[in-house]
Amino acid sequence: MTIELLDLHPAPADLRRLVEQGLQQTPRQLPAWLLYDAEGSRLFSEICKQPEYSLTRTEIALLSTHADAIAAAVGPGVMVEFGIGNARKVSPLLKTGQVTTFVALDISTTALQNALKGLADEHPAIAMLGICCDHSQLSDLPEHPWLTGQRRIGFFPGSSLGNFSPEDAIELLQRFRALLKGGPLLLGLDQPRDPQLLEAAYNDAAGVSAAFARNLLMRLNRDLQGNINPDLFAYEAHWQADNSRIEMALVSLCDQTIRLAEQPWTLRRGDIWITEHSVKYSPAAAAELAQRAGWRVQHRWHDAADQVSLHLLLPAD
Ligand code: AVJ
Repeated sequence: MTIELLDLHPAPADLRRLVEQGLQQTPRQLPAWLLYDAEGSRLFSEICKQPEYSLTRTEIALLSTHADAIAAAVGPGVMVEFGIGNARKVSPLLKTGQVTTFVALDISTTALQNALKGLADEHPAIAMLGICCDHSQLSDLPEHPWLTGQRRIGFFPGSSLGNFSPEDAIELLQRFRALLKGGPLLLGLDQPRDPQLLEAAYNDAAGVSAAFARNLLMRLNRDLQGNINPDLFAYEAHWQADNSRIEMALVSLCDQTIRLAEQPWTLRRGDIWITEHSVKYSPAAAAELAQRAGWRVQHRWHDAADQVSLHLLLPAD
């Protein structure tokens, strides 16, 4: 079993500065990745098990059904997954024999260690390399004997791109293109569908989505000695057709002044604090996005209801 970890020592986030920037905006909004502290990551795994939230289950089924076709289409090489999370997606692709080395990029060394340990047990013949880094360090992979001269295959599942604004999504896809050096990118995206079903997926009956959003407030309380009472906020998820996205937000239930890092912030009753956006890409919108980032869609696999897509992108030139 071969696991190696490279730590590029990404600069620790300046939470005070992020909060200052995010809470000055109207409406208030912080970067979505702040939702994923340990408890947030646990709650997100719980969301994935809710009956209303089918994205994860559908994508996993898609990957296992089409693993051989996908492997044949992407060809052999080193597979690079951007953001490993709980590593629930890549296994079917590693089973196909096309992948010699698996490289996982993530901001968290703990997440990398746990994910690669599990995958290495399951796929002992594949060399596993974890690289701890952030997006700003993504222009290339570090030197490593497992990587030199190898074809690169990118993997970005889970509709993670949906959390980015379209402009940021394009920039990210451009970075991936540079890093993959001519290799393909397998991109998992959720599609628009019945707004009622989408809103239910982001506001499940068990209240896990609401707890996930409120956990951001608790995290800020902990990390910035804050005094926010999460019960003074209602959670809402709305489909915004014009932007083809779900907006998740906490709505202040009263006039209140909260404190974070000794700084007061006043909220009026009804003020909204956006916790995240989840953009849904139709096949046409995905193709346009790809094109604007220098990619073209070579193939698309989707489920029977055509709600979740796996796009195989190739560099446009
Ligand atoms: C991890 C961004 C794909 O947008 O579906 C799910 C995050 N937030 N429920 C999504 C999320 C609340 C999720 N992504």
